Amino acid sequence: MSLRRKKSLDHLMSEASDSESGLKRTLGAWSLVALGIGAIIGAGLFVRTAAAAGEHAGNAVTYSFIIAAIGCAFAGLCYAEFASMIPIAGSAYTYAYATMGELVAWIIGWALILEYALGAATVSIAWSEYFNNLLGGAIPFRWCHSPFEVSPEGLHGFVNLPALFIILTLTFLLIKGTQESAIVNGIIVFVKVAIVLLFITIGWKFINPSHYTPYIIPPDAPPVDLGNGKVYDYSPTFNHGWMGILRGAAIVFFAFIGFDAVSTAAQEAKNPKRDMPIGILGSLAVCTLLYVLFSHVLTGVAPFTDFVKSGKEASVSYAIKNYMPGYNWLATLISVAILAGFSSVMLVMLMGQSRVFYSMSKDGLLPKVFSDLHPKFRTPWKSNLILFLFVGFFGGFIPGSVAGDLTSIGTLFAFVLVCVGIMIMRRSDPHRPRPFKTPLVPLVPILGVLVCSSMIVSLDQMTLLTAVVWMVAGLFIFFMYSRHNSKLKHHPHSK
Ligand code: ALA
Repeated sequence: MSLRRKKSLDHLMSEASDSESGLKRTLGAWSLVALGIGAIIGAGLFVRTAAAAGEHAGNAVTYSFIIAAIGCAFAGLCYAEFASMIPIAGSAYTYAYATMGELVAWIIGWALILEYALGAATVSIAWSEYFNNLLGGAIPFRWCHSPFEVSPEGLHGFVNLPALFIILTLTFLLIKGTQESAIVNGIIVFVKVAIVLLFITIGWKFINPSHYTPYIIPPDAPPVDLGNGKVYDYSPTFNHGWMGILRGAAIVFFAFIGFDAVSTAAQEAKNPKRDMPIGILGSLAVCTLLYVLFSHVLTGVAPFTDFVKSGKEASVSYAIKNYMPGYNWLATLISVAILAGFSSVMLVMLMGQSRVFYSMSKDGLLPKVFSDLHPKFRTPWKSNLILFLFVGFFGGFIPGSVAGDLTSIGTLFAFVLVCVGIMIMRRSDPHRPRPFKTPLVPLVPILGVLVCSSMIVSLDQMTLLTAVVWMVAGLFIFFMYSRHNSKLKHHPHSK
């Protein structure tokens, strides 16, 4: 029945090879790895590491990173097979269309909006915080916070103008062209990695080994005094031991979001069959190593309990200013790099989202305006502008924590479906050439499903509920609009 109509792979490939009218193929392997790292290192590392360590995992946040990385690696291996086999813009959405049919493809596309659009919004809010921090708090509270936020002094937010500003700037950059964006991104990635390495190397000398005992938070760890008669308690299940580490993994998982964004650029890769797996797995490997070292140094320099009460947002400059005497300059430098780093994360997310919209619109599931290309730049400029309105709404008017948790859940959900898709594809189309093959199928995809699902269930109830509401809204649109406008309905060239 029509809900399971699938695109034929041959048709997909011929659509993609129509490169005269489509997106330009300008990205090589290094550009793709840089694109991945550009999307990966950001608010997750510089903001969420400290929160996960302070509240749930302690020093063992390094284990949380490893667990999250394992989940990403399993999903990444599945992504790489798909991306090399179906090197077409649209990522998980496109893969699902070819393997599990239109309805599942729509569901994934809808979940990817949580990942890319809300991810970009979340990071824009973090960008705004760091930016104001660097200006010494010069922007009044009202103009850099959402209406849902109130300062300790009782001031109300109105709109987050810096967040809107950065999203608009990046939108124009993207409209101008992918190649230009990739060059800017390459510079930022260099600065970002250099700064992380600098912190690891200099911070290493300031590690206090006594901070590492005990390494995993015990259930009877003394509570942290938050002042005003409040304490932070480590006895609840997800606040200590291995369950705390798992919750920490779900939190720092945000730091890995983005490696899959490489796959959304498949149609712009010069040699996608070889470069896609390199881009996806290469960026994942580099970042995992950096994250484990970084979090090891951060919790070695400052005791993790500090991050419950202070320095959670600007954790790195907090650790430097308080525990690394003589290195204040490094704190300022790191803040500047973090701002640049956040920008490259947003750039890739906004690009990924507009490419998913592009594919959905080409398929008729979204209106044509999302795939109209600019006559000169050949970028989906109208889609970028509409996206600005959507992301800008969240960036300007919604608190970062709300957008952040939804980003994680949307991504994990898409990962699970990609893993399932690989297993289906091996059965339904076993003879298609696979330039990169996921090893040990079905073991790897099954482990991917298990690890990612366990991170989903360790997130809090409110996030799970909001995600369900989002998906129901998506289904409503699918049945009211997309199903009737699907190109496959009118030209069923597959099955
Ligand atoms: N991985 C991206 C970040 O950490 C989303 O900001």
